[in-house]
Amino acid sequence: MRVLLTGAAGFIGSHIAEALTASGHQIVALDSYLPAAHGAQVPEQESNPDAFRIHRVDVRDPAGVSDLLVDIDVVCHQAAMVGNGVDAADLPEYVTHNDFGTAVVLAAMHEAKVSRLVLASSMVVYGEGAYNCSEHGPVEPSSRTGADLDAGNFEPACPRCARPLTWATVSEAAPIAPRSIYAATKVAQEHLGHAWAIQTGGRVLALRYHNVYGPRMPRDTPYAGVAAIFRSALERGQPPAVFEDGGQTRDFVHVADIARANLAAIENIDAVVEESGFRAYNVCSGQPTTIGEMARILAGATSGLEPVVTGEYRAADVRHVVASPERARQELGFTARIGPEEGIAAFAHAPLRGPASTACR
Ligand code: UD1
Repeated sequence: MRVLLTGAAGFIGSHIAEALTASGHQIVALDSYLPAAHGAQVPEQESNPDAFRIHRVDVRDPAGVSDLLVDIDVVCHQAAMVGNGVDAADLPEYVTHNDFGTAVVLAAMHEAKVSRLVLASSMVVYGEGAYNCSEHGPVEPSSRTGADLDAGNFEPACPRCARPLTWATVSEAAPIAPRSIYAATKVAQEHLGHAWAIQTGGRVLALRYHNVYGPRMPRDTPYAGVAAIFRSALERGQPPAVFEDGGQTRDFVHVADIARANLAAIENIDAVVEESGFRAYNVCSGQPTTIGEMARILAGATSGLEPVVTGEYRAADVRHVVASPERARQELGFTARIGPEEGIAAFAHAPLRGPASTACR
Protein backbone atom coordinates (compact mmCIF):
# COMPACT_ATOMS: atom_id res chain seq x y z
CA MET A 1 0.00 0.00 0.00
CA ARG A 2 1.02 3.62 -0.41
CA VAL A 3 0.88 5.18 3.05
CA LEU A 4 1.05 8.84 4.07
CA LEU A 5 2.80 8.73 7.45
CA THR A 6 2.57 11.86 9.60
CA GLY A 7 5.02 12.33 12.47
CA ALA A 8 7.48 10.12 10.58
CA ALA A 9 10.58 11.55 12.32
CA GLY A 10 9.17 11.01 15.80
CA PHE A 11 9.87 8.23 18.27
CA ILE A 12 6.91 6.08 17.25
CA GLY A 13 6.66 7.30 13.63
CA SER A 14 10.25 6.37 12.85
CA HIS A 15 9.67 2.80 14.02
CA ILE A 16 6.46 2.56 11.97
CA ALA A 17 8.35 3.84 8.92
CA GLU A 18 10.91 1.07 9.30
CA ALA A 19 8.24 -1.61 9.76
CA LEU A 20 6.26 -0.42 6.73
CA THR A 21 9.34 -0.26 4.52
CA ALA A 22 10.48 -3.72 5.65
CA SER A 23 7.05 -5.10 4.71
CA GLY A 24 7.22 -3.68 1.20
CA HIS A 25 4.82 -0.77 1.63
CA GLN A 26 5.57 2.58 0.04
CA ILE A 27 5.78 5.60 2.35
CA VAL A 28 5.19 9.27 1.84
CA ALA A 29 6.50 10.78 5.06
CA LEU A 30 5.97 14.15 6.72
CA ASP A 31 7.01 15.75 9.99
CA SER A 32 7.12 19.33 11.26
CA TYR A 33 10.03 18.56 13.62
CA LEU A 34 8.37 20.12 16.68
CA PRO A 35 11.12 21.60 18.89
CA ALA A 36 9.53 20.04 22.03
CA ALA A 37 10.31 16.62 20.57
CA HIS A 38 13.31 17.28 18.35
CA GLY A 39 15.11 20.22 19.96
CA ALA A 40 15.79 23.54 18.25
CA GLN A 41 18.36 22.19 15.80
CA VAL A 42 17.02 19.43 13.63
CA PRO A 43 19.59 17.33 11.84
CA GLU A 44 18.59 17.00 8.21
CA GLN A 45 16.68 13.74 7.61
CA GLU A 46 17.09 12.65 11.21
CA SER A 47 16.79 8.86 11.68
CA ASN A 48 15.62 8.50 8.14
CA PRO A 49 16.17 5.14 6.47
CA ASP A 50 17.50 5.55 2.92
CA ALA A 51 14.26 4.30 1.36
CA PHE A 52 12.28 7.53 1.80
CA ARG A 53 12.64 11.20 2.61
CA ILE A 54 10.70 13.09 5.24
CA HIS A 55 8.91 16.18 3.94
CA ARG A 56 9.11 19.02 6.44
CA VAL A 57 5.39 19.78 6.57
CA ASP A 58 3.14 20.75 9.46
CA VAL A 59 -0.17 18.84 9.53
CA ARG A 60 -1.90 22.19 10.08
CA ASP A 61 -0.81 23.35 6.62
CA PRO A 62 -3.63 22.39 4.20
CA ALA A 63 -1.58 22.98 1.04
CA GLY A 64 1.43 21.09 2.38
CA VAL A 65 -0.72 18.09 3.35
CA SER A 66 -2.74 18.13 0.09
CA ASP A 67 0.44 18.12 -2.01
CA LEU A 68 1.47 14.83 -0.42
CA LEU A 69 -1.93 13.11 -0.66
CA VAL A 70 -1.43 11.89 -4.20
CA ASP A 71 -2.32 8.23 -4.89
CA ILE A 72 -2.39 7.47 -1.16
CA ASP A 73 -4.26 4.34 0.02
CA VAL A 74 -4.20 5.05 3.74
CA VAL A 75 -3.09 7.82 6.10
CA CYS A 76 -1.26 6.74 9.27
CA HIS A 77 -1.56 9.79 11.52
CA GLN A 78 1.06 9.84 14.29
CA ALA A 79 1.95 13.54 14.39
CA ALA A 80 0.90 14.97 17.76
CA MET A 81 2.00 16.86 20.78
CA VAL A 82 2.21 14.23 23.55
CA GLY A 83 2.73 13.99 27.29
CA ASN A 84 1.32 15.76 30.29
CA GLY A 85 2.65 19.21 29.41
CA VAL A 86 3.64 21.82 31.96
CA ASP A 87 0.40 23.61 32.85
CA ALA A 88 -2.84 24.96 31.41
CA ALA A 89 -0.88 27.46 29.30
CA ASP A 90 -0.11 24.47 27.03
CA LEU A 91 -3.81 24.09 26.14
CA PRO A 92 -3.84 26.04 22.85
CA GLU A 93 -0.71 24.26 21.61
CA TYR A 94 -2.16 20.80 22.30
CA VAL A 95 -5.43 21.71 20.61
CA THR A 96 -3.88 23.29 17.54
CA HIS A 97 -1.42 20.46 16.85
CA ASN A 98 -3.64 17.55 17.77
CA ASP A 99 -7.19 18.62 16.90
CA PHE A 100 -6.89 21.41 14.35
CA GLY A 101 -4.10 19.36 12.72
CA THR A 102 -6.36 16.30 12.50
CA ALA A 103 -9.17 18.42 11.07
CA VAL A 104 -6.85 19.68 8.32
CA VAL A 105 -5.70 16.14 7.51
CA LEU A 106 -9.30 14.85 7.37
CA ALA A 107 -10.46 17.70 5.13
CA ALA A 108 -7.51 17.17 2.79
CA MET A 109 -8.19 13.42 2.70
CA HIS A 110 -11.79 14.05 1.67
CA GLU A 111 -10.65 16.42 -1.07
CA ALA A 112 -8.12 13.85 -2.34
CA LYS A 113 -10.65 10.96 -2.02
CA VAL A 114 -8.50 9.09 0.50
CA SER A 115 -10.89 7.14 2.71
CA ARG A 116 -8.77 5.21 5.24
CA LEU A 117 -7.24 6.61 8.42
CA VAL A 118 -5.20 4.79 11.05
CA LEU A 119 -5.07 7.13 14.05
CA ALA A 120 -2.62 7.14 16.96
CA SER A 121 -4.85 7.37 20.01
CA SER A 122 -4.12 6.63 23.64
CA MET A 123 -5.29 4.78 26.72
CA VAL A 124 -5.58 8.20 28.37
CA VAL A 125 -9.07 8.42 26.82
CA TYR A 126 -10.26 6.00 29.55
CA GLY A 127 -9.33 8.27 32.43
CA GLU A 128 -9.29 6.38 35.71
CA GLY A 129 -9.72 2.88 34.24
CA ALA A 130 -11.99 0.08 35.47
CA TYR A 131 -12.50 -1.02 39.08
CA ASN A 132 -14.35 -3.55 41.22
CA CYS A 133 -15.56 -3.23 44.80
CA SER A 134 -15.61 -6.43 46.88
CA GLU A 135 -19.11 -5.42 48.03
CA HIS A 136 -20.63 -3.55 45.04
CA GLY A 137 -19.00 -5.12 41.99
CA PRO A 138 -17.94 -2.93 39.02
CA VAL A 139 -18.02 0.76 40.04
CA GLU A 140 -16.76 4.09 38.81
CA PRO A 141 -14.28 5.20 41.49
CA SER A 142 -14.59 8.44 43.42
CA SER A 143 -12.02 11.02 42.30
CA ARG A 144 -8.88 11.01 44.44
CA THR A 145 -8.83 14.32 46.31
CA GLY A 146 -5.74 16.35 47.24
CA ALA A 147 -6.42 15.45 50.88
CA ASP A 148 -6.48 11.69 50.05
CA LEU A 149 -3.23 11.93 48.15
CA ASP A 150 -1.54 14.07 50.82
CA ALA A 151 -2.50 11.44 53.38
CA GLY A 152 -0.97 8.71 51.19
CA ASN A 153 -4.36 7.16 50.37
CA PHE A 154 -3.55 6.45 46.74
CA GLU A 155 -6.01 3.67 45.91
CA PRO A 156 -9.34 4.87 44.48
CA ALA A 157 -12.29 4.19 46.76
CA CYS A 158 -15.78 2.80 46.17
CA PRO A 159 -18.24 5.70 45.76
CA ARG A 160 -20.83 3.77 47.82
CA CYS A 161 -18.91 2.27 50.75
CA ALA A 162 -15.44 3.90 50.48
CA ARG A 163 -13.68 0.51 50.51
CA PRO A 164 -10.44 0.46 48.46
CA LEU A 165 -11.07 -0.92 44.95
CA THR A 166 -9.23 -3.48 42.88
CA TRP A 167 -8.50 -2.72 39.23
CA ALA A 168 -10.00 -4.59 36.30
CA THR A 169 -8.92 -4.66 32.66
CA VAL A 170 -10.35 -1.93 30.43
CA SER A 171 -12.02 -2.99 27.20
CA GLU A 172 -12.61 -0.67 24.26
CA ALA A 173 -16.27 -0.42 25.32
CA ALA A 174 -15.29 1.36 28.57
CA PRO A 175 -16.59 4.92 28.93
CA ILE A 176 -14.44 7.77 27.66
CA ALA A 177 -13.38 10.03 30.55
CA PRO A 178 -10.34 12.21 29.76
CA ARG A 179 -8.59 13.76 32.79
CA SER A 180 -5.83 15.83 31.15
CA ILE A 181 -5.54 18.36 28.35
CA TYR A 182 -3.67 15.87 26.22
CA ALA A 183 -6.29 13.19 26.89
CA ALA A 184 -9.08 15.57 25.87
CA THR A 185 -7.33 16.28 22.56
CA LYS A 186 -6.99 12.54 21.88
CA VAL A 187 -10.71 12.04 22.53
CA ALA A 188 -11.46 14.92 20.17
CA GLN A 189 -9.26 13.35 17.48
CA GLU A 190 -11.23 10.11 17.78
CA HIS A 191 -14.56 11.96 17.61
CA LEU A 192 -13.50 14.08 14.64
CA GLY A 193 -12.39 10.92 12.85
CA HIS A 194 -15.65 9.16 13.62
CA ALA A 195 -17.76 12.10 12.44
CA TRP A 196 -15.67 12.40 9.27
CA ALA A 197 -16.13 8.68 8.55
CA ILE A 198 -19.92 8.96 8.92
CA GLN A 199 -20.06 12.05 6.75
CA THR A 200 -17.72 10.88 3.98
CA GLY A 201 -18.08 7.08 3.93
CA GLY A 202 -14.51 6.74 5.18
CA ARG A 203 -13.02 4.28 7.70
CA VAL A 204 -11.11 5.17 10.86
CA LEU A 205 -9.14 2.71 12.96
CA ALA A 206 -7.85 4.18 16.25
CA LEU A 207 -5.02 2.46 18.10
CA ARG A 208 -5.13 3.28 21.81
CA TYR A 209 -1.48 3.00 22.77
CA HIS A 210 -0.58 2.19 26.34
CA ASN A 211 2.73 3.38 27.84
CA VAL A 212 5.17 3.17 24.95
CA TYR A 213 8.93 2.84 25.48
CA GLY A 214 11.94 1.74 23.48
CA PRO A 215 14.94 2.92 21.47
CA ARG A 216 14.92 6.59 20.35
CA MET A 217 12.45 7.61 23.08
CA PRO A 218 12.99 11.32 23.78
CA ARG A 219 15.04 12.09 26.90
CA ASP A 220 13.19 13.59 29.87
CA THR A 221 11.28 16.76 29.09
CA PRO A 222 7.92 17.81 30.60
CA TYR A 223 6.49 15.91 27.64
CA ALA A 224 8.35 12.61 28.18
CA GLY A 225 6.95 9.39 29.61
CA VAL A 226 8.14 7.88 32.89
CA ALA A 227 10.37 5.25 31.27
CA ALA A 228 12.52 7.95 29.63
CA ILE A 229 12.52 10.03 32.83
CA PHE A 230 13.80 7.10 34.92
CA ARG A 231 16.31 6.09 32.26
CA SER A 232 17.67 9.65 32.04
CA ALA A 233 17.97 9.89 35.85
CA LEU A 234 20.02 6.68 35.94
CA GLU A 235 22.21 8.01 33.12
CA ARG A 236 22.96 11.07 35.30
CA GLY A 237 23.81 8.87 38.28
CA GLN A 238 20.54 9.70 40.09
CA PRO A 239 17.93 7.25 41.41
CA PRO A 240 14.56 7.03 39.65
CA ALA A 241 12.04 9.12 41.64
CA VAL A 242 8.91 6.99 41.99
CA PHE A 243 5.72 8.96 42.69
CA GLU A 244 2.88 7.93 45.02
CA ASP A 245 3.88 4.61 46.63
CA GLY A 246 5.04 3.03 43.36
CA GLY A 247 2.00 0.73 43.30
CA GLN A 248 0.30 2.49 40.37
CA THR A 249 -0.15 0.11 37.45
CA ARG A 250 0.50 0.64 33.76
CA ASP A 251 0.99 -1.53 30.70
CA PHE A 252 4.39 -0.82 29.14
CA VAL A 253 4.38 -1.71 25.46
CA HIS A 254 7.52 -1.77 23.32
CA VAL A 255 7.69 0.57 20.36
CA ALA A 256 8.51 -2.34 18.02
CA ASP A 257 5.14 -3.85 18.98
CA ILE A 258 3.43 -0.49 18.39
CA ALA A 259 4.92 -0.51 14.88
CA ARG A 260 3.62 -4.05 14.29
CA ALA A 261 0.16 -3.02 15.48
CA ASN A 262 0.15 -0.17 12.95
CA LEU A 263 1.17 -2.55 10.19
CA ALA A 264 -1.69 -4.90 11.14
CA ALA A 265 -4.10 -1.94 11.24
CA ILE A 266 -3.04 -0.63 7.82
CA GLU A 267 -3.26 -4.07 6.23
CA ASN A 268 -6.61 -5.02 7.81
CA ILE A 269 -8.56 -1.77 8.01
CA ASP A 270 -11.03 -2.72 5.25
CA ALA A 271 -11.69 -6.09 6.89
CA VAL A 272 -12.33 -4.81 10.41
CA VAL A 273 -13.84 -1.33 9.96
CA GLU A 274 -17.05 -0.88 8.03
CA GLU A 275 -17.54 1.89 5.50
CA SER A 276 -18.55 5.06 7.42
CA GLY A 277 -17.21 3.32 10.51
CA PHE A 278 -14.87 3.86 13.44
CA ARG A 279 -13.23 1.14 15.53
CA ALA A 280 -10.77 1.45 18.41
CA TYR A 281 -8.21 -1.08 19.65
CA ASN A 282 -6.12 -1.23 22.81
CA VAL A 283 -2.45 -1.72 22.02
CA CYS A 284 -0.68 -3.10 25.07
CA SER A 285 1.58 -5.91 26.20
CA GLY A 286 -1.17 -7.57 28.25
CA GLN A 287 1.33 -7.81 31.15
CA PRO A 288 0.68 -5.00 33.64
CA THR A 289 3.59 -3.67 35.71
CA THR A 290 3.69 -1.27 38.63
CA ILE A 291 5.77 1.89 38.31
CA GLY A 292 7.86 0.72 41.27
CA GLU A 293 8.57 -2.58 39.54
CA MET A 294 9.46 -0.85 36.27
CA ALA A 295 11.94 1.38 38.13
CA ARG A 296 13.49 -1.67 39.82
CA ILE A 297 13.92 -3.53 36.50
CA LEU A 298 15.56 -0.49 34.88
CA ALA A 299 17.82 0.27 37.83
CA GLY A 300 18.78 -3.42 38.12
CA ALA A 301 19.71 -3.61 34.44
CA THR A 302 21.99 -0.57 34.71
CA SER A 303 23.39 -1.53 38.12
CA GLY A 304 22.28 2.00 38.99
CA LEU A 305 20.96 3.41 42.23
CA GLU A 306 17.91 1.85 43.87
CA PRO A 307 14.70 3.75 43.04
CA VAL A 308 13.43 6.20 45.66
CA VAL A 309 9.70 6.31 46.47
CA THR A 310 8.96 10.01 46.95
CA GLY A 311 5.23 10.07 47.76
CA GLU A 312 4.86 12.99 45.32
CA TYR A 313 1.82 12.94 43.06
CA ARG A 314 0.47 14.67 39.94
CA ALA A 315 -3.07 16.03 40.07
CA ALA A 316 -4.23 14.61 36.74
CA ASP A 317 -2.64 11.18 37.21
CA VAL A 318 -4.68 8.04 37.23
CA ARG A 319 -3.85 5.16 39.57
CA HIS A 320 -4.20 2.03 37.43
CA VAL A 321 -4.83 1.73 33.70
CA VAL A 322 -4.67 -1.83 32.53
CA ALA A 323 -6.19 -2.86 29.25
CA SER A 324 -7.52 -5.94 27.62
CA PRO A 325 -5.55 -6.85 24.47
CA GLU A 326 -8.31 -9.26 23.31
CA ARG A 327 -9.97 -7.22 20.56
CA ALA A 328 -6.66 -6.50 18.81
CA ARG A 329 -5.73 -10.18 19.07
CA GLN A 330 -9.01 -11.44 17.68
CA GLU A 331 -9.63 -8.89 14.93
CA LEU A 332 -6.16 -7.66 13.91
CA GLY A 333 -4.20 -10.80 14.80
CA PHE A 334 -1.95 -8.56 16.92
CA THR A 335 -0.25 -9.80 20.07
CA ALA A 336 2.73 -8.01 21.59
CA ARG A 337 5.94 -9.99 21.30
CA ILE A 338 8.13 -8.13 23.79
CA GLY A 339 7.17 -8.51 27.45
CA PRO A 340 7.96 -5.74 29.95
CA GLU A 341 10.60 -7.69 31.90
CA GLU A 342 12.70 -8.34 28.79
CA GLY A 343 11.91 -5.05 27.03
CA ILE A 344 12.52 -2.70 29.98
CA ALA A 345 15.83 -4.42 30.81
CA ALA A 346 16.95 -3.92 27.18
CA PHE A 347 15.69 -0.32 27.26
CA ALA A 348 18.19 0.38 30.05
CA HIS A 349 20.91 0.41 27.36
CA ALA A 350 18.93 1.65 24.34
CA PRO A 351 19.81 4.96 22.63
CA LEU A 352 17.59 7.93 23.56
CA ARG A 353 16.78 10.98 21.46
CA GLY A 354 17.95 14.48 22.37
CA PRO A 355 20.95 15.86 24.23
CA ALA A 356 22.07 14.23 27.51
CA SER A 357 21.30 16.64 30.31
CA THR A 358 23.01 17.13 33.64
CA ALA A 359 20.15 19.20 35.05
CA CYS A 360 17.65 17.83 37.57
CA ARG A 361 13.99 18.23 36.78
C1 UD1 B 1 1.54 8.18 29.33
C2 UD1 B 1 1.84 9.35 28.46
C3 UD1 B 1 0.72 9.71 27.63
C4 UD1 B 1 0.35 8.53 26.79
C5 UD1 B 1 0.08 7.35 27.68
C6 UD1 B 1 -0.16 6.11 26.87
C7 UD1 B 1 3.43 11.04 29.00
C8 UD1 B 1 3.80 12.13 29.95
N1 UD1 B 1 2.27 10.44 29.28
O1 UD1 B 1 0.58 8.58 30.34
O2 UD1 B 1 1.05 10.78 26.80
O3 UD1 B 1 -0.76 8.78 26.02
O4 UD1 B 1 1.16 7.12 28.54
O5 UD1 B 1 0.94 5.80 26.11
O6 UD1 B 1 4.11 10.72 28.07
N2 UD1 B 1 5.83 8.89 37.45
C9 UD1 B 1 6.79 8.71 38.42
N3 UD1 B 1 7.92 9.49 38.38
C10 UD1 B 1 8.13 10.44 37.42
C11 UD1 B 1 7.14 10.61 36.40
C12 UD1 B 1 6.00 9.82 36.45
O7 UD1 B 1 6.64 7.87 39.31
O8 UD1 B 1 9.18 11.10 37.44
C13 UD1 B 1 4.60 8.06 37.50
C14 UD1 B 1 3.33 8.87 37.39
O9 UD1 B 1 2.91 9.30 38.64
C15 UD1 B 1 2.38 7.86 36.77
C16 UD1 B 1 3.28 6.91 35.99
O10 UD1 B 1 4.61 7.20 36.38
O11 UD1 B 1 1.73 7.14 37.77
C17 UD1 B 1 3.19 7.04 34.48
O12 UD1 B 1 3.44 8.37 34.12
P1 UD1 B 1 3.66 8.83 32.60
O13 UD1 B 1 4.80 8.15 31.99
O14 UD1 B 1 3.66 10.30 32.60
O15 UD1 B 1 2.46 8.20 31.85
P2 UD1 B 1 0.90 8.25 31.87
O16 UD1 B 1 0.38 9.37 32.69
O17 UD1 B 1 0.49 6.87 32.21
